[in-house]
Parts: sequence; structure tokens; C-alpha cells
Amino acid sequence: MNEARRKLVVGNWKMHGTHAANEALLEALKSAGPLPCDAAVCVPFPYLAQAAERLARSAIEWGAQDCSAHSQGAYTGEVSVGMLADFGCRYVIVGHSERRALHGESDQLVADKARAALASGVTPIVCVGETLAEREADDTEAVVKRQLSAVIHTLAHCTGEMIVAYEPVWAIGTGRTASPEQAQAVHALLRAQLRAATPQADRMRLLYGGSVKPDNAASLFAQPDIDGGLIGGASLKAADFLSICRASA
Ligand code: 13P
Repeated sequence: MNEARRKLVVGNWKMHGTHAANEALLEALKSAGPLPCDAAVCVPFPYLAQAAERLARSAIEWGAQDCSAHSQGAYTGEVSVGMLADFGCRYVIVGHSERRALHGESDQLVADKARAALASGVTPIVCVGETLAEREADDTEAVVKRQLSAVIHTLAHCTGEMIVAYEPVWAIGTGRTASPEQAQAVHALLRAQLRAATPQADRMRLLYGGSVKPDNAASLFAQPDIDGGLIGGASLKAADFLSICRASA
């Protein structure tokens, strides 16, 4: 384990939750006591204020799942990072594969969102990852490098301030997780690419996401370049999310 990088476990609630269900989940997270890692939940926009209020003075931070690349203007339905920062948002996920696939987000748009986040003091969690077809065509390395390269190029000297999440699309929500070795191999590639771009690469946290569960988290987190996880389904159950956090010890 790299002592310079404290593990980070982030829940991505995706489009799940109700005010009442969130109350119970947030309360359970808040009352969990000290955790061996940094932890956060990225919640749908309408529930950001609820997360901010309920997690105040707790060890768990909170963030959003997307943002606009623009700072303000006639962009109906969009949310700027300035608005997120306005009430203390710590993280924002950008370039999740669901947004790339379902909303046509390009590598450059994702990079512009990451730049907007950093400009407002919110840490972007930049997602990269290949589809099953791309993996089977032996294109994994080329795809994740292309996705990360757009961000490195756009952020230039700020590259070291972001978090990168490797989420193979074929492992998301499928129960089919990447093996620790498969995930580590891609993380090592990403780390090498970051080293070429910033002297801070060895301090940057690279998260793995895709069917992380309490029973596979420890073996993934034990890999030298895996610094925590981005958790979908299992983040909706307090016991599972906390158990994944504890697996980082
Ligand atoms: P699952 O953990 O449900 O596979 O989702 C992963 C993910 O997409 C997190 O952003």
C-alpha cells in the first residue's frame, strides 16, 4: 500500500433515492464512527442540500454526479460547478460512462467539465473505461489513454489535482467485476500516463469502479495502484458501503 495516498471510497447513488430513504441512509453513514479511509457520497442534484445538512460534522463528504462545463448562462437544466461550490460541494463525478454513452459526452466535454470543476475548487472524479467490445478487440489501453489524454491536455499544470476512476463499462452494474490483476494493469497504465504529465502523479488517487462489493473490495484495494473505489449499487445500502470502506484498512 502506498502510504502517501489515503484510500478514498466514493458512493455514486446514480438516479436513486427519495427524501425519506436518504434520511435513513445518511443517518446510518453518519453514525458509523471513524473509518479507515476518506469517504464520500455523490447524490442526485435535488438531494445535495440534504446530504450537505445531514453529513455536516461527519467524516463523510459529499459530491455531485455531473456538472456543466459552463459557468452560467442560457443552459436550461444544467447546473454549474459554481452553484455546487456555493454550498460546499467537495467532489463532482465527470465523464461517467453512463453520461458518455447515454448523453453523448465527448472526451473534450468531459475535460472541459473537469477544468470547470477545478476552477471552482471542486475536485473532479474523472471516469475512464472501455466497453466489452473494446476490451475484446484489445483496445483497452488505447481507449483509456485517449480519454485521459484529453483531460491531461486540457488541465495542463492542474492535472495533479484531480481524481481518476477506472470503470470498465462491462463491469458496471453487471456483477462481473474486473479481477484485481485486470484492474491493477489498467491502473498502472494510467499512473504511468499521469507520471509523464505531472510530478504529482504518485500522490494522485486512482479509484476502481464496477461491481465493487463487500466481498471483493479488499482484494481490489490491495493492489498497488488502486487507491479506493467508486461504488454504485452497493453504496445504496449503508452496511455494504461501510463494509467496503472498512475493506480499505
Ligand atoms: P456498480 O458498483 O453498481 O457496478 O456501479 C459502478 C459505477 O458506475 C460507479 O460509478
